[in-house]
Amino acid sequence: MAIKNKELPALKIGEHQPKYPIIQGGMGIMVSGPRLATAVAAAGGIGTIASVGLAASSDDFDLSLGPKEISGRNQQILARYVKEAKEASNGGVIAVNCMCALSDYEDLVRTSCEAGADVIISGAGLPLKLPQLAEGHPNTALVPIVSSVKAAGLILNRWLKHYSRIPDAFVVETPNTAGGHLGARNEDEALDGKFSLREVVPALVKYIRDLGLNIPVIAAGGIWDASDIDDAIEMGASGVQMGTRFAATEEGDASDRFKEAYVEATDKDVVLLKSPCGLPGRAIMSPLLERYFSNTLEKMSCRAGCLSHCICKLQHETFCIADALVSAYRGDWENGLFFCGTNVSKVKSIMKVKELMQELVADFRLPEPSLEPAR
Ligand SMILES: Cc1cc2nc3c(=O)[nH]c(=O)nc-3n(C[C@H](O)[C@H](O)[C@H](O)COP(=O)(O)O)c2cc1C
Repeated sequence: MAIKNKELPALKIGEHQPKYPIIQGGMGIMVSGPRLATAVAAAGGIGTIASVGLAASSDDFDLSLGPKEISGRNQQILARYVKEAKEASNGGVIAVNCMCALSDYEDLVRTSCEAGADVIISGAGLPLKLPQLAEGHPNTALVPIVSSVKAAGLILNRWLKHYSRIPDAFVVETPNTAGGHLGARNEDEALDGKFSLREVVPALVKYIRDLGLNIPVIAAGGIWDASDIDDAIEMGASGVQMGTRFAATEEGDASDRFKEAYVEATDKDVVLLKSPCGLPGRAIMSPLLERYFSNTLEKMSCRAGCLSHCICKLQHETFCIADALVSAYRGDWENGLFFCGTNVSKVKSIMKVKELMQELVADFRLPEPSLEPAR
């Protein structure tokens, strides 16, 4: 292999440095819970807990709860998961993914910091106020997810002006291939080559360097194997974030039926849809999506009040995304929304996290351990 013996970059995010520059991306609802995050962190990567919909996915979820109680439960469960994962991963690096589009976004960020999360990774909107929400927690590194240099520039300028702080890293997630909600205005834009990793990663690395700053850039979307990691490094990335491959591991928190849907999916089953929050999303064609595309969905009411802007909540259109994602997590093929990246068709079996990590790094040389603190 051409990459044999090439050195992996040392990924320093704030004061945290995992053994390998590999982040398992946050995947909601409960596709990346504490079990997956712990396994990845213990295997030398950064494990991310997705903070969305935790109350709605719990077995004792009560449909009669109001938004305030649901938000309180979300926070309680999240705090417990972060503490569990920190403890069980034996000093591994644990991140929490907080999406700006969530109605209790601010509380989820604060709870993550208080519970001891090492890193907050935040996208699905621009995390312009993130440093303010994480105030008092200087050890929690802050990482925005962007799909363009323009978005990264807006965040950087705002953080410098208002908080005299720069992001500890940027994740560039390309809507061309990534799973879940995508950073694009519509389905056409999601496929536009100007948002490819090859366009955006080198441009963002140069933008940051030209400002005289040192901020690691992490590539996400369509990373499958060591050769993709090598490509990302060649583009200037200091690490990668991977979702789809980790969702289909033994330790992935979703049901076996969810993972089977990944193993069975072919290229032509991967579709783009407009999610109730207005963003495009990528998922496996399923009975729910057949009803959605043929306009035969039954009207649904809002189940968990999870999004600040939602056309199901406001106009009873489309479907309840919390309900659809919880159904997928539980393995309800008829009613679930099975988010995935374009790589889903390559999933042929369910691996253990440790084996996957070993496969990803086997041909690289490890970075020299850093003697300096990261900041
Ligand atoms: C099932 C699934 C759920 C996801 N949920 C979230 C989420 O809650 N928040 C988020 O920022 N990204 C989410 N993502 C995106 C991943 O964190 C990751 O960046 C992306 O999947 C990378 O692309 P890949 O799947 O091709 O590796 C999700 C992806 C998948 C596959």
